[in-house]
Amino acid sequence: MEQQHAKDVLTFVEDQANKETLRFITCGSVDDGKSTLIGRLLYESKNIFDDQLQALESDSKRYGTQGEKMDMALLVDGLQAEREQGITIDVAYRFFSTEKRRFIVADTPGHEQYTRNMATGASTADVAVILVDARKGILVQTRRHSRIVSLMGIKQVVLAVNKMDLVSYDQKVFDAIVADYTAFAAEFKFDSIMAIPVSGLDGDNVLECTENLAWFKGPSLIHHLEQVPISLAADRGDFRLPVQLVNRPNLDFRGFCGRIAEGAVRPGDAVRVLPSGVRATVKAVIDGFDEVEVAKVGSSITITLNEEVDASRGDVIVSAERPAEVADQFEAKLLWMGEHAMSPGRQYLMKMGCKEVTATITGIKYREDVNTGGHMAATNLELNEIATVDISTSAPMVFEPYTTNKLLGSFILVDKLTFETVGAGMIDFALRRASNIHWQALELDRKARAALKHQESRCIWLTGLSGSGKSTIADLLEKRLYTQGKHTYLLDGDNVRHGLNRDLGFTEADRVENIRRVAEVAKLMVDAGLIVIVSFISPFRNERRMARELFGEGEFMEVFVDTPLEECERRDVKGLYAKARKGELKNFTGIDSDYEAPEAPELHLRTTGVSAEACAEQVMNALV
Ligand code: ADX
Repeated sequence: MEQQHAKDVLTFVEDQANKETLRFITCGSVDDGKSTLIGRLLYESKNIFDDQLQALESDSKRYGTQGEKMDMALLVDGLQAEREQGITIDVAYRFFSTEKRRFIVADTPGHEQYTRNMATGASTADVAVILVDARKGILVQTRRHSRIVSLMGIKQVVLAVNKMDLVSYDQKVFDAIVADYTAFAAEFKFDSIMAIPVSGLDGDNVLECTENLAWFKGPSLIHHLEQVPISLAADRGDFRLPVQLVNRPNLDFRGFCGRIAEGAVRPGDAVRVLPSGVRATVKAVIDGFDEVEVAKVGSSITITLNEEVDASRGDVIVSAERPAEVADQFEAKLLWMGEHAMSPGRQYLMKMGCKEVTATITGIKYREDVNTGGHMAATNLELNEIATVDISTSAPMVFEPYTTNKLLGSFILVDKLTFETVGAGMIDFALRRASNIHWQALELDRKARAALKHQESRCIWLTGLSGSGKSTIADLLEKRLYTQGKHTYLLDGDNVRHGLNRDLGFTEADRVENIRRVAEVAKLMVDAGLIVIVSFISPFRNERRMARELFGEGEFMEVFVDTPLEECERRDVKGLYAKARKGELKNFTGIDSDYEAPEAPELHLRTTGVSAEACAEQVMNALV
């Protein structure tokens, strides 16, 4: 009995392994009957893979490793991309199969966070099933979903007009919806739009075409999914191996491990390591424990090279004749998924394949109206918004346009403080090749310039509420340094806002830019050998951190001028708090705009009951 079961399981596994897999995503709101339809698909396929797998798991443990390997591959495949990218969000993957194919459905909840979930589900899908309630027709949601589907590069769409039972299976209703949708979707240039009337509840046209819908001559939903071409990314055969790991068990062996993103590789092939561009030839290709003559796209392999070349995790080994591109400035489509709005100039962590760098949105070209596709000007991006942006990275990235290669053309942005995934991007093209930019290496450096002034250059960064006493302390501090013969400069918020930053107001986006500019100016001045005092509210941790990262170890000193809000408001030297309370001044720090207190400043000045002189003294002491 047990023997027989084991054999069944193995046959099952083999069958599954020989079938091709179609990945699809279902889009629709809860009300469209999405869950019912998915449940129906699982039920009708009579092959609820989840259950089979459970049996498989326990059995494969008992009967050997082969089964275990198989089920891992089946399960892990669909999720790997997301896992590697660190996206762990609300997407349920369901598995089922019919005689012809295996299916992986990304089921994304239809609530307001749809963009994030959908983008995740759509990133690996071949087909999108867009659900429409026959009674309601094409809704804003439908348009939104279609736009994202198109953005993510899905070329085949199924328009499932659901709840046909509630409109008496009326062909006219169906035809009208199809006409509507076809007109709307024309701009996306999908390869195919298959419209199918269904009833998830009653099961009409899910597996079998039923009497109720006898007027419909097309295939049922499952039959269509069984035959729709699986859109393998056109494999141009240009070899691409993103290096995940450098395997160096001993001095004689250095293997580069990764999964082939495109093309094939053979011993003797000429390759380059990007971004450095160094050339080499492949010595051996190892798949599992064996050296092989060729390895193709999708295989996880190790290669060794004839030459001693440097390559590390995040590099990409490519065909020498047809290498990928390298750049540090891109135009990209960006889907914002952060609760907190994206501000140009702010720094984010960018993960692209195995590479992590710091990235900044340098400009928003336009935001897209999800309904109409219209282009709109924007200064920031809110949750679920889509835009075309310019992005700049702290190091050169190896990439290909998303339309050419999804793997090498997509990235995610992560918040540096919370580590939340806040954006998903697709690269259009490079704005400038990285190889053209060289930071001028000058003989005279910061140290030399500072030495001439008999000092060490520094950036002293005062942060605190308006009216906390920053400017007064900064002024006293500069005078003290001056009398000691030091070369200084004071950058004060109010003053800089009259000149360099005259064009900026007090929205979050403007404050981010305000701080970015002043931090860059401070850096230049430190390079010039000066002791620079910066006195800006600088309310956000993110930007203070960005400022800090511009400087070398020990060069940056964050001073928190900690005066309680009540005290600042009581002083109200400029009368601004009174105005803000009356609502005459918007976005006032401490009133209707946040101040994020420093967590670990080099110096924490508690000013209550302490004179400005004494505070300046404390900074002087801390400097020594
Ligand atoms: S920051 O937030 O961008 O760092 P910054 O230090 O340059 O601000 O400018 C703050 C000064 O601008 C305040 O001291 C105050 O005099 C003035 N001000 C005018 N409107 C505002 C506002 N909405 N919030 C804060 N300060 C304001």
